Amino acid sequence: MPVIPPPPPSSPLPDGRSAVRPSVLQLPVSRIAEVSALGFGDPDIVTLWYGEGDLSTPDFICDAATAALKRGETFYTYKRGLPQLRQAVAHYLTDLYARPTAMDRITVTSSGMNAIMLACQAILDAGDNLAAVSPVWPNVAGAVGALGAEVRAVHLTPRQDGGWSFDLDRVIAACDARTRAVFVNSPGNPTGWVMPQRDAEDLLAFTRSRGLWLIADEVYARIVYEGRAAPSFHDLTEPEDRVIVINSFSKSWAMTGWRLGWMAAPEELTPAIDKLVEYNTSGAPAFLQEGALTAVTEGEPLVARIVEQCRQGRDILVDGLQRFPRITLARPEGAFYAFCRVDGMADSLSFAKDILHRCKVGVAPGSAFGEAGEGYLRLCFASSADKLRLALDRLTPALK
Ligand SMILES: Cc1ncc(COP(=O)(O)O)c(C=O)c1O
Repeated sequence: MPVIPPPPPSSPLPDGRSAVRPSVLQLPVSRIAEVSALGFGDPDIVTLWYGEGDLSTPDFICDAATAALKRGETFYTYKRGLPQLRQAVAHYLTDLYARPTAMDRITVTSSGMNAIMLACQAILDAGDNLAAVSPVWPNVAGAVGALGAEVRAVHLTPRQDGGWSFDLDRVIAACDARTRAVFVNSPGNPTGWVMPQRDAEDLLAFTRSRGLWLIADEVYARIVYEGRAAPSFHDLTEPEDRVIVINSFSKSWAMTGWRLGWMAAPEELTPAIDKLVEYNTSGAPAFLQEGALTAVTEGEPLVARIVEQCRQGRDILVDGLQRFPRITLARPEGAFYAFCRVDGMADSLSFAKDILHRCKVGVAPGSAFGEAGEGYLRLCFASSADKLRLALDRLTPALK
């Protein structure tokens, strides 16, 4: 098994100041990575720790990128994305949701993660804070922390049945004069919670009333088990609303390794995003964007196939896990994770490491998603039925 090398020490400058920005040195190491480093590359481990399926990108998308590469689309390109891709994304969104989206509001980014970072760079100064509905994907706190700003976790309330409820009063209580934005991810990683439209309307009314930004991470918008897409802020917002909707090609089109996403933002933000893209990546590679264009225009059957695989995976894993008396888990409405409460588990990080050694199954510890996630484990079910059944078999000694 690989050994994680200790981080290299950073010696201070002659005047005693840190040579590396302290807010960066203080960024936590992902607890998912802490577990996965103990088994990475071991073929005997059934890996359910990361948020991706086992389907590689289908040929019709790869062929479009390869053809663009061969045509010579290897030069610098439009910073905010190929106009034809921005237009196609705008059409896609307009077709999917109640309100139209114009291409002027779309920026193609080098991944959903990059879109989150760009949004944070555009609105957060050191000392500001962002209220994030939690448990939440840890990279959000990483992006905010790297800027010297702070995340205020706003906990969802766990229900008896294993589901989650949103409480606007908690958001209101978390916000102060230094709050610049509220972050909400629906369908949610890790919970699978889908924000009801009523809650979204109330949250939007609040952020509007305070002039706050609302960052809506909708990268799992299409991974839902009822309807074509989860309720979205695209159904509710006016073009000038301070709402930034983050999306990605990763999950719905099996393109995690392409590192392509997009953001929809009001015109007010365009000059800032324009500059920040320039100074971060100077734009996503044109030939990859040609693949994404094919995905978004011809990929509906693929999206349906991915959702069906996830539905099958969800049912196998949830049914299997619910048989263990120690587990409480609702059938998630969206995304592709089982986030289950484990009775008697005091420390999810040690438990996940123990499961890795004893059962050869890789899972993510709930504490990776913030304090509200302690007591839980996250298992990704975007995998084949055989792999999930094997994982359940192997987990029996640890969970029964
Ligand atoms: C909630 C959430 N947002 C954003 C992302 C970023 O996706 P990517 O950077 O692959 O586009 C992920 C990836 O796991 C995620 O789970």
